Amino acid sequence: MKHTQQLALMDDVFKHLETPEAPDGVTHKIDTQRYTSQAQLNKERKKIFQDFPIAVGVVAQLEKNGNYFLHDLTGVPIVVLKGKDGEVRAFINMCRHRGVRLLREEKGHLKKNIVCPYHAWSYDTAGCLKGILHNKGFEGVNETNHSLISLDCSVHFGLVFVVPNPGLKGKFNWDNFLKEVYNVYQTFGLDTHVPYKSETRTVAGNWKLVIDSGLEAYHFKIAHAKTIGSYFVDNAGVNYHNKLHSSIIFPKKSITRIKNTPRESWQLREHANILVNIFPNTVILVQPDHAMVIFNFPIDEKSTLVHSIMLIPQAPTTQQEIDYWNLNRDIFWNAIDEDNELVELQQATFNGFDGKPMTIGSFEKLILQFENLVDKVLEGKLKLTDF
Ligand code: FES
Ligand SMILES: [Fe+2]
Repeated sequence: MKHTQQLALMDDVFKHLETPEAPDGVTHKIDTQRYTSQAQLNKERKKIFQDFPIAVGVVAQLEKNGNYFLHDLTGVPIVVLKGKDGEVRAFINMCRHRGVRLLREEKGHLKKNIVCPYHAWSYDTAGCLKGILHNKGFEGVNETNHSLISLDCSVHFGLVFVVPNPGLKGKFNWDNFLKEVYNVYQTFGLDTHVPYKSETRTVAGNWKLVIDSGLEAYHFKIAHAKTIGSYFVDNAGVNYHNKLHSSIIFPKKSITRIKNTPRESWQLREHANILVNIFPNTVILVQPDHAMVIFNFPIDEKSTLVHSIMLIPQAPTTQQEIDYWNLNRDIFWNAIDEDNELVELQQATFNGFDGKPMTIGSFEKLILQFENLVDKVLEGKLKLTDF
């Protein structure tokens, strides 16, 4: 853990609390058609969910060589597979003969090659074509031209990222793409955590509204009055935004107590929640002793699949530990359910009252920046190959 980096973040928080920047008071309008249009979602699927790295899971899901999991939520059928050589790779889950879906169980372990259920073409765990039944009928078809279609795949701080568009493989630099996030994320040493529980919810709201709901602290005191609201300093999100990703520190009231204690003992996580938003749809909520990774995927233009994985320092060994993590999970979901209920109320309005702008104020700048970023990508002004 880089403590100096953490102290710098804490200095930002104290500065923000002691001499808050006066809000500029400027408001912006957002056209709500972006949350109801199927045409817009089709473009987003193509240009955002397939042409950018998408976090599809955590690497700890692939403990042993030969383990795999499937992912279909970008629209591209993806298999992420840890090869016999220990390398994590991603492929299109499709046979190169006549396109049959190869692996069908959501996750599993491959003892041998992948064998297609149609005519038994086979592929090894590195995706190479290994066998063709009656191969005399397929002159010129070989490992070089008919292995599984490989996707750019890379593991960073415990998350597996895949670029679903095979045409973008090797066309950008992973470190450049993620460097804004590394600065914040690495501070907390979460890459050694293990997944505890995963959970999935369906929210009747556009995926961008679900992301927007985490991008400001303005709602905490009101929307989370019955749960976590009273622990946090009112309306005090400290925002960081770069070219793509963003982070917010939500200071808890307890932070003011440590101001006059020795700096060496300061731990930001104990006195704030930190939200890291990896463009476009991954959110990591860093809490005092664990983190939640949340993956938000559009089901259609009006609903979102919210999938979360809890990351804890080590697997629980006693009932007491299990109860402790379950309690933490419940606290998280109680608050997120409150957010999601409000997202559903927004979506319900927009579904019947299209095209009327909503108002975004000074405390909600990250929402505006995120929505503008989506537009920039859709207009072709920002591409993965820029990184
Ligand atoms: S479709 Fe896979 S072997 Fe024929
Ligand atoms: Fe919230």
